[in-house]
Amino acid sequence: VSDTAENARPSDNVHVALGERSYTIRIVSRAASQFGSFARLSLDRSWAGRGCKRGLVVTDRNVRPIAESLAGSLAAVGISSDLAVLEPGEETKSLRSAQVLWDRLVDLRADRHTVIVAVGGGVVGDLAGFVAATYARGLPLLMAPTSLLAQVDSSVGGKVGINLPEVKNILGAFHQPSGVWIDTEMLETLPPRQFHCGLAEVVKYGVILDEPFFEELERAEPEILAMDPAWLRRIVARSCELKAFVVERDELETSGLRAALNFGHTIGHAIEAVAGYGGAYNHGEAVSIGMVAETRIAERLGWIDAGVRRRIELLLGRFGLPTAAPELESEPLLEAMTRDKKNRAGTIRFVLPRRLGHVELTDVVTPDLIRLVLDAQ
Ligand SMILES: NC(=O)c1ccc[n+]([C@@H]2O[C@H](COP(=O)([O-])OP(=O)(O)OC[C@H]3O[C@@H](n4cnc5c(N)ncnc54)[C@H](O)[C@@H]3O)[C@@H](O)[C@H]2O)c1
Ligand SMILES: [Zn+2]
Repeated sequence: VSDTAENARPSDNVHVALGERSYTIRIVSRAASQFGSFARLSLDRSWAGRGCKRGLVVTDRNVRPIAESLAGSLAAVGISSDLAVLEPGEETKSLRSAQVLWDRLVDLRADRHTVIVAVGGGVVGDLAGFVAATYARGLPLLMAPTSLLAQVDSSVGGKVGINLPEVKNILGAFHQPSGVWIDTEMLETLPPRQFHCGLAEVVKYGVILDEPFFEELERAEPEILAMDPAWLRRIVARSCELKAFVVERDELETSGLRAALNFGHTIGHAIEAVAGYGGAYNHGEAVSIGMVAETRIAERLGWIDAGVRRRIELLLGRFGLPTAAPELESEPLLEAMTRDKKNRAGTIRFVLPRRLGHVELTDVVTPDLIRLVLDAQ
């Protein structure tokens, strides 16, 4: 995986090459007024988008002002829009919210040229994307992710979906957007804890695909934490390039390559499930702890040395993230891992580092080894 990752070149415009479904991710700072022309350009590249004069902007209460300003910019290029403002939080990623939005589209007499514009974090993006994927068998979609996690992860790759009460992300589709608009200015209102959570995924990209990027993060930690716009653009762009690199080669998660993105998530998801969603740890924090635990497993297997593990642990800590959850018992975590929908035939599969910038998918990890590492936290 890592050997060819240099092909993903740095820029503030990331092209996601997926044939007819190709699109651009534009990364800017303080440029909300230019959203309209980007939207027009992106939409004009497809049949459905070319005829687009109307849209439904989906957002949540916390980012409503951003959504309103982007809607203004759309109006300036002749795209009129309605606004749907949802309650913030994971509970919003539900069938009930999807129903509200579908009904809204019926009221608006939406047709296949009506664009859905998702302005918000991963919750808004996944839900609005799911509604775009399903209504009239697919509406054009523009993403304007406002949380760091959404900017570096959930808005790229085309996975959209909602939760059922007992199962996260179980209803979904692949639906690529026409364009993704990322303005780092949006991050200025994001709560610091949410910012740190996004950084967990950024660190993940360095570990799985790009050692020089990991080193860059180590060096630029103060500038990144100070939210220097140029550095924010850099880390967002590089993360998008790396995710796009993976998605381009495994759009539908069939070749195993996309599984590399799950580094830290096997244990991370178990932590979320056991500690409770919306509980002590949110996603990025659980993934941070998961990455450290999974790196420890790799260390025990002799895949990497303690020095690499310490660097990963140190960087996550400096980025304000937890690196262990000693209060969580290993048995319930193991049980949650066995239930995970990504596992086949009872074995727990892991993505583990062989060195910085390179991971491998494996099922050699035994329950005893997992227990050992979790108990040693
Ligand atoms: N589709 C994918 O590939 C993919 C990948 C990773 C995660 N996800 C999903 O993403 C979701 C998590 O995303 P998230 O962490 O962005 O959560 P979120 O959407 O709940 O946003 C977190 C909080 O930050 C607030 N917020 C967002 N941007 C803000 C801003 N600029 N200013 C002030 N407040 C702001 C939101 O209102 C919310 O309260 C989960 O549902 C997860 O399943 C999807
Ligand atoms: Zn994640």
